[in-house]
Amino acid sequence: MSDTVNNNKKRALSCVQPSGVLTLGNYLGALKNFKAMQDDFECLFAVADLHAITVRQQPANLRAQIYATYALFLAIGLDPDKSTLFIQSHVKEHAALSWLLSCNTQFGEMARMTQFKDKSAKHADNINVGLFSYPVLMAADILLYTPDFVPVGADQKQHLEIARDIAIRFNNNYGDVFKVPEPYIPTKCARVMSLQNPAQKMSKSDENQNAFVSLLDDTDTIIRKFKRAVTDSDNRIICSDDKPGITNLIGIYGAVCGKTNKEVEEEFEGKGYGDFKLAVGETVANELAPIKANYDKYISDKAELERLFRDGAEKARYLANKTYRKAMKKVGFVI
Ligand code: TRP
Repeated sequence: MSDTVNNNKKRALSCVQPSGVLTLGNYLGALKNFKAMQDDFECLFAVADLHAITVRQQPANLRAQIYATYALFLAIGLDPDKSTLFIQSHVKEHAALSWLLSCNTQFGEMARMTQFKDKSAKHADNINVGLFSYPVLMAADILLYTPDFVPVGADQKQHLEIARDIAIRFNNNYGDVFKVPEPYIPTKCARVMSLQNPAQKMSKSDENQNAFVSLLDDTDTIIRKFKRAVTDSDNRIICSDDKPGITNLIGIYGAVCGKTNKEVEEEFEGKGYGDFKLAVGETVANELAPIKANYDKYISDKAELERLFRDGAEKARYLANKTYRKAMKKVGFVI
């Protein structure tokens, strides 16, 4: 098994929570980039199901979302022969290492986390201890696999920073166990904003269905959502702080086609908003159509999904267990 991981490529790891349907924002901000990384890095990607229960989940719904997220990994082109694709809870070392790390993390450090503050304001009736210590579990996810790089969006940078602090502290206290990972900031990565309120991030939990594009929306729905996208009353297709709607559409189009904002502006010079919105809608729809078709195929074959995620877990466990045992031993446990 070790020959799958024994090469000279740098290692990268990232995880995606199985909470709700993934959006164009998740795709252009992270998933498309994961696919591009597969050839240059030795990659591990996990469905972070343990993280999902920091907010209340319906069991049947959670189960369905775990399958759906794994199927989407495959549908966007993550290849189980190139990358290790697994489900976090299948590798028990994540929860186990998070205990060791918890005892080496200060209360004050966690209390500063902005996501905790946001989420506890949003879920005031369920400010559980897991929500509070979530970044420690995320640190365990990362440190178990000694990755060189962790591709994350801007909203996860603070958590990655804590993972680095925890690793450095642990290594100082007990001797070298963990690699201190670097954030990986992809060159072509878009921060996709809501189509209805471009001041806000595109979010699957938006009450307005027209504000986000699901990766599983059909072509007509996608085109309709782009036609309805909020823009301004001027008619020039240029990026500008006072044109957040058009700037967002330019970013989306550029991220899908691999073009810079400037190239997109030139391509649509002299064209009107109607033409531009339609072009963005069609381009996104064309990009997502094969993903949806692949998804439908993978999600309908549960046995194959299970075979793949069991295999992925086995590969992940091999690496995780090595690091976990080393950490336990250094702390003084008898193993
Ligand atoms: N917390 C991340 C998010 O909500 C998901 C995540 C969990 C993660 N563990 C991770 C991301 C490890 C990178 C590495 O998006």
